[in-house]
Amino acid sequence: MDAGISIAELTVERLPDVVELCHRALDLPEDAAEAGPLVETLWPRAAADRIVRVLGAYREQELVGVLIGSLSAGDGRVGHVDLLAVAPMLRRRGIGRALLGHAERAFAQLGATEVLLAGNPPYYAWPGIDVRYTPAICLALALGYRPDGTAWNMTADLSYDGSPALRSTETAESRLAGQGVTVRRAEPADLPALTAFARATFGGSWDAELAGSLGRPGAGCHLAERDGELLGFAAYGSSRPSWFGPMGTAPAAQGSGIGGVLLRRCLSDQRAAGVTAAQIGWVGPVPFYSGSAGARIEQVFFLYRRTLDARINGKW
Ligand SMILES: CC(C)(COP(=O)(O)OP(=O)(O)OC[C@H]1O[C@@H](n2cnc3c(N)ncnc32)[C@H](O)[C@@H]1OP(=O)(O)O)[C@@H](O)C(=O)NCCC(=O)NCCS
Repeated sequence: MDAGISIAELTVERLPDVVELCHRALDLPEDAAEAGPLVETLWPRAAADRIVRVLGAYREQELVGVLIGSLSAGDGRVGHVDLLAVAPMLRRRGIGRALLGHAERAFAQLGATEVLLAGNPPYYAWPGIDVRYTPAICLALALGYRPDGTAWNMTADLSYDGSPALRSTETAESRLAGQGVTVRRAEPADLPALTAFARATFGGSWDAELAGSLGRPGAGCHLAERDGELLGFAAYGSSRPSWFGPMGTAPAAQGSGIGGVLLRRCLSDQRAAGVTAAQIGWVGPVPFYSGSAGARIEQVFFLYRRTLDARINGKW
């Protein structure tokens, strides 16, 4: 690494500097534009629930590189690199390598035996490395990371009135009403019932994403119920205003059109908030999103992992 560059752990007072650096250093315009909410999701929001560390690379007083890392909530032996960015003018000088090396040593000190270059749900900005960040993929391979699968987002086009993503939900909602199903916008008071429904029906935990979608600007949630019993929900904007998800329909109600209605209600909100292309993150059911909103697979992410050397040691 260049002489004159030093690495230090950052405290939250440096958040504005980190956001400003990410505006400049995230090469994809859609990521640069959302640098503020993206960084805030990874830190400090995520830090309320799990161990998050932020490393800064400095040239004199100037922040020129940043890495946000977190320990997996479910498995303390796994560390995640959530974000890594180096100022464009200072690339290929070893700053990315040094930040990752520091992070690996810090994860080892916390008891981790593996590091993933992959999102750490529910607080993540990308499932893995967007393939268009090709230098980051080169860096991962140069540092001995192994490919660990592929993930993708789908894009729903909200840029024009006739888009299939903005198809009216009116007819489907009247049909559902005939079956006693009501669809409405969720309120903060619905949160306990929504989290209980999501946990009981789908396992895992969408608690944080549901909480992040209610009562915050640029975010929202819609639900379907019958006789006070929840049948499904769809949320958006929890980590990034342009991102849709999570969503889920109770198995017994699947196939009734509830999912498509909830999805398009959210997309219509996102469009009203100025989003022109919604990202459906870390997608499972491609045919559902393609059929219900004309969404297409667009962003592809490579995931990587590396087993830490047992002798690795150090500090932030
Ligand atoms: C990815 C990124 C952080 C790398 O930072 P960096 O400080 O330039 O990386 P380093 O100088 O430490 O590179 C270390 C090694 O990675 C590889 N590498 C990095 N950039 C590369 C490139 N553009 N082409 C080929 N190999 C590359 C090389 O092997 C390099 O070693 P070398 O220079 O001795 O050949 C930087 O390009 C960046 O900020 N990109 C935009 C943001 C981003 O992609 N973030 C990841 C998604 S969160």
